[in-house]
Amino acid sequence: MILGMVGWRGMVGSVLTNRMREENDFSLAEKVIFYSTSNPGGAAPALPNGDPVLGDANKVEDLARCDVIITCQGGDYTKAIHPKIRAYGWKGYWIDAASALRMEPNAIIVLDPVNLAVIKKSLEEGILDYIGGNCTVSLMLMAMDGLIRENLVEWISSMTYQAASGAGAKNMRELLLQMGALYGSAKDLLADPGSSILEIDRRVSKEFSAPDFPTKAFGAPLAGSVLSWIDKDLGNGMSREEWKGGAEANKILGRPAQPAPGSVIVEGLCVRISAMRCHSQALTVKLKEDLPVEVIEAKLAAANPWVKVIPNRREESLVELAPSKVAGTLSVPIGRIRKLAMGPEYISAFTVGDQLLWGAAEPLRRMFRILVDFKA
Ligand code: HSE
Repeated sequence: MILGMVGWRGMVGSVLTNRMREENDFSLAEKVIFYSTSNPGGAAPALPNGDPVLGDANKVEDLARCDVIITCQGGDYTKAIHPKIRAYGWKGYWIDAASALRMEPNAIIVLDPVNLAVIKKSLEEGILDYIGGNCTVSLMLMAMDGLIRENLVEWISSMTYQAASGAGAKNMRELLLQMGALYGSAKDLLADPGSSILEIDRRVSKEFSAPDFPTKAFGAPLAGSVLSWIDKDLGNGMSREEWKGGAEANKILGRPAQPAPGSVIVEGLCVRISAMRCHSQALTVKLKEDLPVEVIEAKLAAANPWVKVIPNRREESLVELAPSKVAGTLSVPIGRIRKLAMGPEYISAFTVGDQLLWGAAEPLRRMFRILVDFKA
């Protein structure tokens, strides 16, 4: 198969390309063509089976040389090119990180540790569009796999603690600039152990509204604060990020749309915090049965090779359930599991996952491998 890579220079694209190199995925293609929107004809990244010349990502007749296209170029690109290349008659597989096509009836959201059966059935049916899920949703499903796959979950309330990376590379930079500005505002006082903490806090509070405090990307201070809204306002009190929880989770699982019978209801509030690249989520779960905590933990731990149950103790939780620990890894820890006062079917949980790996790049590269196997 000829594989085309679009949007490989951006943040998700770079993480994806690195993972594909690490796992030797490119060697499974007959040929790899890297595409560019800005520099077609330029030199492509070196690969033994790579086309040395960059293709033109804006020309459907050039893209149509591929059997599979993986794009991390973003939703605007997808909206512009996908309808054109299909209208051109291209029958290849489109694997996409952007959300644009996720809820289309002819598209499948890929998260194979959780929905391999859905993916395989769709391949048999001739479906050609395979889209990566929203990071928060994918990470939650990876963590909760063991209970969801046994149909033990009635509903999940997910209160998120989402990292800056979910908003983009420039937001990660801005978060650090904000941290630096806050530190700078009180640096001299911090150096003096006898200085007043209230004076330090006054300086920091003033800095939030200083004219040169960097807020271009986020529109507000994130460092030293939180952002209580993520993505668009749907006009019904819900953010688009919150809507995605229920909508995408049930589509990934191949279940009816919530709250129809057979669906898993996923609700919650999505909040941005000052983590760099790992999303965390505090879950309240209503189970369909009163199961002992040890049974719950055993089911979660056995569901897939990446989920890791952390014993609900202070020491382990502080070390393991932390974005600073999980960043850059494929591990999806889940812990803080205990029964809640609402009743024996109610449990709490806290989970963390790398938003760029299982939340974005990993399901895409694995989909390429699934395709290679399917076509073999
Ligand atoms: N929408 C997510 C966020 C990231 O803003 O954190 C992409 O899925």
